[in-house]
Amino acid sequence: LSLQQVNDLSPNEFHQIFINVIECWSEGAIYVSALVPFKNFDRLIESFHRYLDQLSIENKLKILRLHPDLAGKLADDDLLTDESKYEQSCAGLDLLTAENKLKMNELNYKYKQKFSFPFVICVRENSKFEAILKGISERIDNEVQQEIEIGIGEVKKICRLRILEIVDYSK
Ligand code: GUN
Repeated sequence: LSLQQVNDLSPNEFHQIFINVIECWSEGAIYVSALVPFKNFDRLIESFHRYLDQLSIENKLKILRLHPDLAGKLADDDLLTDESKYEQSCAGLDLLTAENKLKMNELNYKYKQKFSFPFVICVRENSKFEAILKGISERIDNEVQQEIEIGIGEVKKICRLRILEIVDYSK
């Protein structure tokens, strides 16, 4: 979509199109639909980012908990959202060796035991399996408060890339 096309959307159309730029959290698209029109696409992305920043800790936790595990059960059962499926495949997480899958599953489990939410990382910006493993191994030592903010920071990166799949930045 061009900027003009985005700006011509009704709030309801906007909501439907941007519904999953924050994984399974359509409230973000509803909130931002009220901010149309945008001067440029940076402002559109910023609006989603600001929305995420101003949420309560409770809502940030809810959003993190809506993310599927990387290479986890939902992926095995082919129940991921289209966006998550695409992202995980970009990092080859659908084609891991049995050994690497086990490693990933074990670390996901430990991470979730500690934090009570899943490990979220923008896998399209960390598309090497080693980088993802390094990320989870390092982040598991963080404090909960810090990890909520890092996780939401990753949700912002994921959100930006999902928006870029929808809009045509050159127009
Ligand atoms: N990074 C990009 N997409 C996803 C996702 O769906 N889940 C997790 N945990 N991280 C992601």
